[in-house]
Amino acid sequence: MRFLSGLDPLTPFVQRDGDTSAAAQRNMEIQMGLLIKNGEIITASDRFVADVWCENETITRIDKDLVAPAGAEVIDATGKYVFPGFIDPHTHIYLPFMGTYAVDDYETGTIAALCGGTTTVMDFCIPGRDETPKSAWATWNSKSEGKACCDYTYHMAVTHFDQAAAAELRELIAKGVSSFKIFLAYAGALGLEDDELYQTLKLAADAGVRVVAHCENACIVCNLQAELLAAGKTGPEFHEASRPAWVEADGTRHFCAMLKATGAQGYIAHLSCAEALRETVEARMNGTHVAVETLIQHLLLDSSYAERPNFEAAKYIMSPPLREKSNQKVLWNALESGLAHTIATDHAPFTTTQKRMGIDDFTKIPNGIPSLEDRVRMFYTHGVATGRIDLNHFVGLLSTHAAKLFGLYPRKGTIQVGSDADLVVYDPTYEGTISANTQHSAVDYNVFEGWPVKGRCDMVSVRGNVQVRDGEFVGKKGIGQFLRRERVY
Ligand code: URP
Ligand code: ZN
Repeated sequence: MRFLSGLDPLTPFVQRDGDTSAAAQRNMEIQMGLLIKNGEIITASDRFVADVWCENETITRIDKDLVAPAGAEVIDATGKYVFPGFIDPHTHIYLPFMGTYAVDDYETGTIAALCGGTTTVMDFCIPGRDETPKSAWATWNSKSEGKACCDYTYHMAVTHFDQAAAAELRELIAKGVSSFKIFLAYAGALGLEDDELYQTLKLAADAGVRVVAHCENACIVCNLQAELLAAGKTGPEFHEASRPAWVEADGTRHFCAMLKATGAQGYIAHLSCAEALRETVEARMNGTHVAVETLIQHLLLDSSYAERPNFEAAKYIMSPPLREKSNQKVLWNALESGLAHTIATDHAPFTTTQKRMGIDDFTKIPNGIPSLEDRVRMFYTHGVATGRIDLNHFVGLLSTHAAKLFGLYPRKGTIQVGSDADLVVYDPTYEGTISANTQHSAVDYNVFEGWPVKGRCDMVSVRGNVQVRDGEFVGKKGIGQFLRRERVY
């Protein structure tokens, strides 16, 4: 942590040179400098009480007894934590999927993120199998630009690979993409053939791009689904049986073998079970570079939720599925011991009406369990407040590790001079309850309905703009910026 002297007067806000974008203009209108006083600053490695001065979108001073110039906003954080803005490395805000569209847009989705303390979302730009990467890129930009209320970037999904796609992917890398997404699941739709996967990983290894993978053996899933349906097993309670833990483990092993063969560095998305985790440990022992993400849903919910009567279970359908409860302890241990590195949401919001598309056939239930607003407070409540995870590790798992893995660090993911002024003032004494009635996502349910939570994001800033006060969005819409990233290895 870098300290500067507290004796010099604080300087007034000056706009960053040369930044004339519309988002920068909107920032300019509202930024007069922001001083967070007397909070307990928590990063992945430090913990101390100090003041943080933000100007020109960045943190420029961290010291004791700073005095704000006239016109600056001062926030008293006495008795509260000051965290770096949290990063959700896996969200789907705009998502055409399974014959429908996720219901959030970049306004509702990023407002939900912000109210939950997330200041950067890593979304997925996903071309249809017959669409070019650049065409999908244009679509995603048309959805996010001028609408996002927090900063964002995309993992670029590779759903088809040939020389033309490779050339476009290289153009997108030059525009600031440093991660790809590949699906082993969803055969015939988003999934890649093995030859395509191999070539994609070769390109990634050459360009220093990290590859995020959805690991389930698509062929086995398709066949198990068909057999279950043929046996009249059409309800949501059969979803898990169609994609059991060993199928995820098989996909994980396969992806890790492809990483080893190509030299690419990988990232397992939404790892849900002990069997798949074991494959990643084995791969690392073989010298493969692979990181692991797990989801707040897999840590807190088990497969019994997806067996609830009256089609209530459909709310709990996602892939990989919620697992048998014994897996939760394994995932928590993995986070504590460094075998897993990040916690995401895989936010994919489909309403209860949309979920009814699969009323007669569980394979048609749009997959996804939304929770973008809940990740931080649920992990704080069940991880930190129970004494399982210390505050530094909490910040690492929810922010810093993702920033480092995906080329955002130290701009994002920490509190230090020169970092973006993305800050969360968290009141650990607040006690509340989760409810769909008070959430900001456009979806009409919450799988954590009625669950108690400890703590609240009292204030959330994005590059010094106060976007949330007292847990409510009060900021400027559309100030979110696309984050260009460099090669990550
Ligand atoms: O069930 C899920 N995970 N839905 C979102 C799409 C995906 O597979 O990530
Ligand atoms: Zn996903």
